[in-house]
Amino acid sequence: MYGLVNRALQQLVCAHHGQRTWDTIRAKAGVADEVFVRMDSYPDEVTRRLVAAASEVLEAPADELLKGFGRYWVRYTMVEGYGALLSDLGPTLHDALAALDAMHARVALLYPALKPPSFRLSGVTDDRMSLHYHSERGGFAPMIIGLVEGLGERYQLRVEVVHAEARGEDCDHDRFDIRIVGRTDPVQDKAVA
Ligand code: HEM
Repeated sequence: MYGLVNRALQQLVCAHHGQRTWDTIRAKAGVADEVFVRMDSYPDEVTRRLVAAASEVLEAPADELLKGFGRYWVRYTMVEGYGALLSDLGPTLHDALAALDAMHARVALLYPALKPPSFRLSGVTDDRMSLHYHSERGGFAPMIIGLVEGLGERYQLRVEVVHAEARGEDCDHDRFDIRIVGRTDPVQDKAVA
């Protein structure tokens, strides 16, 4: 994956646990890079090994880390200068989820070797929908829960996201069932904006 992703992981860990913990994780993962170049492409294995090592060192399940990383990604991409891409996603969460492929197509103009995931919505009602996640990669599905929660916060919505179907022999993609359960409180909104 592009260095942008590994940089975000590094910053998330450093912000909560400090540089020394990150160095321990990096050593355990056997990753030599002290910094990741945003626009350089790194083998997916680097990201996978970092997540696995972080899980061991922080004594937290990898799925939980990926979920937290998904939430962080929404804020991180804004701070890194991609806020306009998120703002252009549309006026509602439904619009935003339906526009994810078009958004990644715009990202691919900046990152030409991008291998973006692909999403499809089904069963859309006022407060429920299913998000179908297709990817060339395996193992990153838990990220979607945090990504959708983080995206929901941008629309001042609290959402419940359930990993309803995992890809496997019977199904070539993951399905997430999403329910809008309320609105976020104004104080939290300010922190996110
Ligand atoms: C402005 C915001 C965003 C930017 C700039 C961005 C950019 C990227 C980049 C650079 C990658 C790495 C892919 C590669 O190196 O081949 C990536 C992967 C990914 N993105 Fe986005 N993204 C954004 C928002 C989102 C959102 C809102 C979602 C979902 C709700 C999402 C879902 C994913 C997933 C699941 C992956 C990695 C796993 C896979 O390949 O299946 N992204 N994105």
